[in-house]
Amino acid sequence: MFLSLQLMKEDFLHKKLEERKTQNAYRELKLTEAMVDFCSNDYLGLSKLLHPDSSSNGSLKHGSTGSRLLAGNYPLINETEKQIAAFHAAPSALVFNSGYDANIGLLSSVPQRGDTILYDYLSHASIRDGIRLSFAESFSFAHNNLDELEEKLKKAKGNKFVVTESVFSMDGDLAPLTEMISICEKYEAHLIVDEAHATGVIGKNGEGLVQDLNLQSRCFARIHTFGKALGCHGAVVLGSTALRNYLINFSRAFIYTTALPESSVMAIRMSYELFPNMHAEREQLRRLVQEFQQSPIKFNKQHSSTPIQAVIVPGNEEVKYVAGQLQAKQFDIRPILYPTVPTNSERLRIVLHSFNTIEQVRSVTGSLQ
Ligand SMILES: Cc1ncc(COP(=O)(O)O)c(C=O)c1O
Repeated sequence: MFLSLQLMKEDFLHKKLEERKTQNAYRELKLTEAMVDFCSNDYLGLSKLLHPDSSSNGSLKHGSTGSRLLAGNYPLINETEKQIAAFHAAPSALVFNSGYDANIGLLSSVPQRGDTILYDYLSHASIRDGIRLSFAESFSFAHNNLDELEEKLKKAKGNKFVVTESVFSMDGDLAPLTEMISICEKYEAHLIVDEAHATGVIGKNGEGLVQDLNLQSRCFARIHTFGKALGCHGAVVLGSTALRNYLINFSRAFIYTTALPESSVMAIRMSYELFPNMHAEREQLRRLVQEFQQSPIKFNKQHSSTPIQAVIVPGNEEVKYVAGQLQAKQFDIRPILYPTVPTNSERLRIVLHSFNTIEQVRSVTGSLQ
């Protein structure tokens, strides 16, 4: 085994890595330094509250010992799914080990050969990867472009699925879900909404954009992830009981993996008890978003009503330079490079949190003037 690894030709890997270096887009693992957080997805600061020391229940298992279909199922995870389904006004919920797994597990298993998937061009990598694993035909539509979506739906064959994010992860803008669902209904298409960046943040109690717009009964499936505002790990697919049963039977990303442990699920449960009441934190987020949006800076910034704020600094080298200047002032702000975003739309992705202050935001915008 070791020998064959040594003999294996890896020129193709080296070639791709060299290309990345030439593009000034080579990624390396770095340790996070203590800086003011403008980077993580911990929107409400919950990951700090959910530190193991703050949990009184020391008997929770840190391993689940197997797949949910074997030794890995336990009462707490079933109860938690029911609690989450009720909170999100859905018939049922199925926990996956991450948002990536949820998108892969759903999109690779549900649409079949002969079906059609239409997805927003700016969809997250996990959505794209799930679609690639499916045998259905797939086409993207331009970002939030309803006319193009409708044109493509007219030609779509088999069962039709439309996939979008409610809050886009790189731009922070919202999908026009009300209009989108009407178009889906006109062409009998199933709408799938990834609520990763809306969970905990959008809606009176952080339910997400779908419920804020009262569209929950008209969506085929919703994905809520726990690794962002909820400060935990994992995700859930919401939908009908038939969808849940289908995923239990056919979704390989659900079947062939170790279930989340009790300790993780308890953290998710605690988070669902905390975040609905974090009104002051959501209000603070709104204030910071407003402050950021209203402050003049010398770069173009995307219009965004969410904690994700994108400042466009075209060019990998340029955006890295500007990010470096902010980091030198102890602001943990990361550049997003091509090819993660299209060329010339390289950006600073500034993530606002309820624990950031107006003064800190002013300091950041002041540095960008
Ligand atoms: C829109 C979207 N969906 C899914 C995911 C994946 O979620 P997780 O990090 O839980 O795997 C992310 C994470 O960045 C995301 O932004």
